[in-house]
Amino acid sequence: MEFKLFTYTVITIILALSLSFFTSTSSNNFLDCISQRNLSNVVFTPNNTSYSTILQSTIQNLRFDTPKNPKPLAIITPLTYSHVQSTIICSVQFKHQIRIRSGGHDYEGLSYTSYENTPFILLDLNQLRSVTVDLSTNTTWVESGATLGELSYMVSRKSNVLGFPTGECTSVGVGGQLSGGGFGTMARKYGLLADNVVDALLVDVNGRILDRDLMGEDLFWAIRGGGGGNFGVVLSWKINLVYVPPKVTVFTISKMLDANGTKIVHKWQYIAHNLTEDLFINLVVSPVQVSNTTILAVTFNSLFLGTKNELIATMNDRFPELGLQEKDCIEMSWIESVVYHSVYLKGQSVDALIERRPWPKNYSKFKSDYVKKPISEETLEKIWKWCLEENLILAIEPHGGKMSEIDESSTPYPHRKGNLYIIQYVMQWNEGFNTTKEHVASIRRVYEKMTPFVSNNPREAYVNFRDLDLGTNGNACGTGYLQALRWGNKYFMGNFKRLAMVKGKVDPINYFCNEQSIPPLPVPDY
Ligand code: FDA
Repeated sequence: MEFKLFTYTVITIILALSLSFFTSTSSNNFLDCISQRNLSNVVFTPNNTSYSTILQSTIQNLRFDTPKNPKPLAIITPLTYSHVQSTIICSVQFKHQIRIRSGGHDYEGLSYTSYENTPFILLDLNQLRSVTVDLSTNTTWVESGATLGELSYMVSRKSNVLGFPTGECTSVGVGGQLSGGGFGTMARKYGLLADNVVDALLVDVNGRILDRDLMGEDLFWAIRGGGGGNFGVVLSWKINLVYVPPKVTVFTISKMLDANGTKIVHKWQYIAHNLTEDLFINLVVSPVQVSNTTILAVTFNSLFLGTKNELIATMNDRFPELGLQEKDCIEMSWIESVVYHSVYLKGQSVDALIERRPWPKNYSKFKSDYVKKPISEETLEKIWKWCLEENLILAIEPHGGKMSEIDESSTPYPHRKGNLYIIQYVMQWNEGFNTTKEHVASIRRVYEKMTPFVSNNPREAYVNFRDLDLGTNGNACGTGYLQALRWGNKYFMGNFKRLAMVKGKVDPINYFCNEQSIPPLPVPDY
């Protein structure tokens, strides 16, 4: 018995030593490959003093910024497209996985860490962030490393009547936002941000740069909502800009969730998806402190693409229960409304959009659901109780309008007609990593209780609100198509098979893989 244990221990040590030798040898070879291609000035290894600062710079979720989280063998911060090509060529050659990071807001940290101890390289696109606006075609080319705030700012500097359906968090990266779809305050008028992309440049698994013509329509379809990190590195995107009036109107109204507050939310479910496409009203349900007691409040945030008077007339006609008054309404330019809706920048000048200030960091876990039938007042009351017990926030965004007009297979985002709204469950805490288990258990409990009231078969989810509870790829991205259907069906429904077939065609070796990446489905030769 003792001899067996000894033999086992010796074998384990030999294996560990040979693995570390292999790892360091192959990483040296990788670094040699990179330096032969003149990338030395953009490579940061753990020996470099800037390594940790760069790694942590855009980690949004502190849950994945602990000493236990696997760290990259090297971070590459490309300054040119050829740097990206060289990184892909060398890491494919030396079989290192890659993590692609634009803004670092991935809810499960998939852009900068790994859940296994597989060596990986972090390709951080932070420095690739130029924005070029072309007023002759009303389009813009934007590099993936730009934030939504930077893009909004640059567009607004060129025109006060052009914009794009941006998201509500201005520090989110363009690369991740577009890869998963991109929902925001103009979605009811213009769809997702990805619905407005007309061209892109991508580095594929062979290190080639492909534009829309070269990549073909299948791959171009897949990258506009099929989820980040699946098909290649998207360098830049060409977006059709849309008309915004010189003056828009915003309001924020909070109500306590007593009987009357619940009635208003109940009514909102019937009208928010049905209003004029110019009007967007979302809800945030959150616990607030009122003289030593925690109660729930609901906040209605709105963007109206028109004047104060038009808004008040519409609200009096369609949603008088909210009691909107002139004093609640503020007219401003579209770019000012981007700052207004970016919660943490509210009240600051538009210049704050290009200061690259991160959204306040905390520990967090998110989940999502789609609702197709209004929830009764009685059930809403129960939901408030669960949120209060678990200290959970709900961010609820209306669909309808343009979102319902776009066919569910036109991009990989399938949650179109028939959806009243999406619920985002938000669990955030600052007590440190040690309390992760209980907070994650809390959000899971509420999600479980919500089952009868949300979409089913499948229970749909939004890929940009990444949730590994829905299923993962297991070791070394090894899961096949059938197992991945478990989560793939929820994010993409009928589009999942097409995504897997595109993957099979453009990345048959499954190089671009992570815990929840699309598995390659072999494409038959006809
Ligand atoms: P990050 O860099 O972490 O990338 C996310 C994923 O995309 C990763 O898998 C990554 O590998 C991949 N990826 C990144 N760049 C890529 C590239 N160039 N090529 C290929 N793959 C790439 N969403 C929304 O629709 N509307 C909203 O209003 C909000 N609001 C919001 C607020 C806050 C505070 C957070 C933290 C998140 C949101 N989101 C959101 C969700 C957000 O859209 C989602 O997390 C995005 O994937 C983040 O994109 P980043 O580039 O910042 O993330």
